[in-house]
Amino acid sequence: METKELEQTLVLLKPDALQNSLTGYLLSQLSEFHTGLHLSAAKIVSVSKLLAEEHYAEHKGKGFYDSLLDYIMGALHWSEPWRRRVVAIVYQGQDAIKKIRDIAGPTNPHVARDTKPGCIRALGSIIPLKDASGKVVGDRMDNLIHASANPADAEREVKLWFAPTDVPPLMLAWATAPSDAFYWFKDGALSTEQAPGARCIAAPGDVLWRSDLEALQKIASGAESATPLGAVAAKYLLNIA
Ligand code: PPS
Repeated sequence: METKELEQTLVLLKPDALQNSLTGYLLSQLSEFHTGLHLSAAKIVSVSKLLAEEHYAEHKGKGFYDSLLDYIMGALHWSEPWRRRVVAIVYQGQDAIKKIRDIAGPTNPHVARDTKPGCIRALGSIIPLKDASGKVVGDRMDNLIHASANPADAEREVKLWFAPTDVPPLMLAWATAPSDAFYWFKDGALSTEQAPGARCIAAPGDVLWRSDLEALQKIASGAESATPLGAVAAKYLLNIA
């Protein structure tokens, strides 16, 4: 990110926010009037398993992980698959990460109610998680909103949910580059050759995050990539049936 004014952060209005018709209230709380921040990008997303796993990769192995994936995929709040959506938004401006985290409040809704009444997550709930015998083995936080925690997370998360072409050119916070080849994705693997059932994630000339293109080039040549293939592919397969 080149300047402090260009600081960007990812916000997700989660399925419980949609189910409770809180989207308007949340957008109002986050509006330029209240935060001084600007909208850079927004979309309605049907969250795939691939995207959910990449978004919450750091929590893999924790007791609440599987339930967290079901939650962000909307499976716990909606029986009809078409209703399972998240509103993904990028906000931009000075101290965007901190300003949004302050309005969101503490991760845990009970802590939010106790320590910061009025914040968004004070309206959330804690759901007990039970094992097959019905014993409570943990909990999941249905806290209405996700907000990037720090600049490194913000970069990873904005690039995970949004392609450069989702963002107005003058609001791009990170370098982009044109794809040099066709890149195809199938069953978690990458190929530069088309195969039956493979999805095209980039064609020559498509504008990609430069870090994504570098990852694709490395993975295609068999080298290690710090950015996992799933994190590159998920956004280009977003909302594709
Ligand atoms: S935070 O707010 O991002 O700093 O919190 P962090 O601890 O890094 O992220 C945890 C994410 O997992 C969700 N989650 C839980 N965390 C802790 N304990 C339990 N039981 C739990 N259940 C769900 C939590 O809401 C964070 O996701 P986001 O989307 O950031 O809210």
